[in-house]
Amino acid sequence: MLENLPKQAPDGILHLMEQLRADPRAEKVDLGVGVYRDATGATPIMRAVRQAGRRLWEAETTKTYTALAGDAAFLAAVRALVLGDAPETAAIATPGGTGAVRLGLELVRMANPEARVFVSDPTWPNHLSILAHLGMEAVPFRYFDAGTQDVDRDGLRGDLAALREGDVVLLHGCCHNPTGADPDTDLWEEVARIIRAAGAIPMIDLAYLGLGDGIEEDAAGTRALVSACPEALVALSCSKNFGLYRERVGALIVSAADDMAAELAQGAMTHLNRQAYSFPPDHGARLAAMVLDDPALRAEWLTELGEMRAQVKGLRTALVEELRARTSSGRFDYITRHRGMFSMLGASPAQVTQMRETHGIYMTRDSRINIAGLGARDVPRLAAAMVEAGL
Ligand code: LMR
Repeated sequence: MLENLPKQAPDGILHLMEQLRADPRAEKVDLGVGVYRDATGATPIMRAVRQAGRRLWEAETTKTYTALAGDAAFLAAVRALVLGDAPETAAIATPGGTGAVRLGLELVRMANPEARVFVSDPTWPNHLSILAHLGMEAVPFRYFDAGTQDVDRDGLRGDLAALREGDVVLLHGCCHNPTGADPDTDLWEEVARIIRAAGAIPMIDLAYLGLGDGIEEDAAGTRALVSACPEALVALSCSKNFGLYRERVGALIVSAADDMAAELAQGAMTHLNRQAYSFPPDHGARLAAMVLDDPALRAEWLTELGEMRAQVKGLRTALVEELRARTSSGRFDYITRHRGMFSMLGASPAQVTQMRETHGIYMTRDSRINIAGLGARDVPRLAAAMVEAGL
């Protein structure tokens, strides 16, 4: 039987992690997978999360099953974090943001097997992979202007004009992965109007909430979509903003038109949890809930998130200054306009290979760099490699 299995192409991002591990050069620079690193190159356990962990260790009396939807306190806390005060929502805890994306798309397919899913071009490759796995149709829409490295507003408007009733539009709520280019407030509102007018449904992948400009700022696009459209899905990840990567903490939050639809959605989502793995992982979710619900821990968490943002923004500025000095031009200034961990450099696969082979600088094939992977001392090397590669 097993010999009949199709050979799977390796995931580009994870393959890059393996290549990097095998590279013996001490000075190699990892700008691949989207993981935050502090100035020492470490991916720390966040201070508030560590404190919550200590308290949980002391206070937890059982490891018996929790609810199928996940811990109620976690779901209430993340719902409020993302949407503020939004009624008529259903929610389940999921293993990470990827779990939420997967089950969200399964929910769509269950409700409307004909739904097409519009995806930004480019998008996180796993979106396309999950859609293909589920046999759902992906329709790319123009998103990124390779000339300005900003959002291609006209392309986006033009392509979303093809939306039909019941289609789903998968958007990145903030810190677009892989480009780093986010819509501004006006564009979010316009996109919300277009989706609503077409009778389509927004699905927002919110994997980097708090890593752009702050929780409220980063949630604004999602909230605009949820308040404009009668139905919306949000796939939240707590991997990056709580530093809980390996604990797999996420939630699927669905906003419905009325109480009856919310109840149906809650039933279907809980059913999907049961079919996939029964109970979602609980430990990390409980830590996140403790941080969100305790005013002192929450304040500490927000402070540390602010430090993480400052670190990434500082690196963006340093890189742009270095590039300005080397090229006497402002053509890389877009790097400071981008938000979150990523920027897309617009390099060809050959240029990406050259930077990796000659300088040991690792980025994904589409020339996405994880700014948080840079150490301050790597900035001149990256700038030199970019210029040498002809960017
Ligand atoms: C990334 O895009 O690098 C992250 O979301 C990690 C992953 O799972 O791909």
